[in-house]
Amino acid sequence: MKVDGRPTRSIWTDADGTVRVIDQRRLPHAFVAVPLETREDAAAAIREMWVRGAPLIGATAAWGLALHLARDPSDAALAETCELLAATRPTAINLRWALDRLGEHLAPLAPEARAAAARRLAAAICDEDVAINTAIGEHGLPLIEAIAARKHPGEPVRILTHCNAGWLATVDVGTATAPIYLAHDRGIAVHVWVDETRPRNQGAALTAWELANHGVPHSVVVDNAGGHLMQRGLVDLVITGTDRTTARGDVCNKIGTYLKALAARDTGVPFYVALPSPTIDWTLHDGFAIPIEERGPEEVTHIPGLAEDGSVRTVRVTPAASPAANPAFDVTPARLVTGLITERGVVAPGDLAALFPETAVPLDQTPLAASATPTGA
Ligand code: MRU
Repeated sequence: MKVDGRPTRSIWTDADGTVRVIDQRRLPHAFVAVPLETREDAAAAIREMWVRGAPLIGATAAWGLALHLARDPSDAALAETCELLAATRPTAINLRWALDRLGEHLAPLAPEARAAAARRLAAAICDEDVAINTAIGEHGLPLIEAIAARKHPGEPVRILTHCNAGWLATVDVGTATAPIYLAHDRGIAVHVWVDETRPRNQGAALTAWELANHGVPHSVVVDNAGGHLMQRGLVDLVITGTDRTTARGDVCNKIGTYLKALAARDTGVPFYVALPSPTIDWTLHDGFAIPIEERGPEEVTHIPGLAEDGSVRTVRVTPAASPAANPAFDVTPARLVTGLITERGVVAPGDLAALFPETAVPLDQTPLAASATPTGA
């Protein structure tokens, strides 16, 4: 996508090979690109959320491994770096997917060949992500076109999205935003309801910034507004991203997604999830077996924002004596998901395996992890 008219990805290499990412903690108030020089930089970038979003986390881990192998390409360094990077965030499966892919490719190579091969594969993973998201856009577009066809000319298709599953969460294009950008670029009127997405406000800070940059009409709403908007017939379609989706189509995504899915089901609004295949965990059947990241309480008790004097300040919003809890993701059971928009087409959650026969693990070979299953799964 473009920033100030210049095509920009969320992670890239400069002409001299330096790996750079956007420090997303600074958006929307400042656009700052920072270099990643070591695996520790990459690990910190993921853990501290300079970068975030499942596909971008995977891409950053791939580059982190490549950076370290240029210093030490030994078997021990390969294993240790994969372990270090895999431990940075627990929920998004793309992290492990990218590291497994690099590990499998690099382990059989002679150590002296590993650094260059790792750079090539990290770059390929980034390019593939863009291609996957572009295809998600093409497959999701007809959903928007079909709604537009039922409206008066110029009347917008109203789409609600949660968190940031835009280009900032991926290498480029985004997943949930891919059909939206495409519809907008093809002249279909759209209006996006952007959930602010407390506690870190990825919707208010990042999705809104992206959409504004691209000229897509949108309104930021508080997280609790979605149900009301749906009841009043003001939402035609929900599209969210996902951090991990199981073989049967249970969707783990940013905390609050489940409540939107419940409201969508109650009000008859279609609820779609944009799902790139590296985000599928074929080893899991039951979404409640997915580890849910618990982040620090300060993300709930404090909030940053732009002060009148132009400085960014962080203020406390809760009583100092009140503890906070901060589960970062939730699971939407497959039964609440209308369809999954993948790079191979749109499917009902139960049909996911048929779309990816070469990678799908037969359900009777997946751990059921039934012990973790709450009611209603
Ligand atoms: O905690 P974050 O910001 O990494 O969470 C991101 C999300 O939940 C996104 O919706 C998800 O990764 C899909 S991104 C294409």
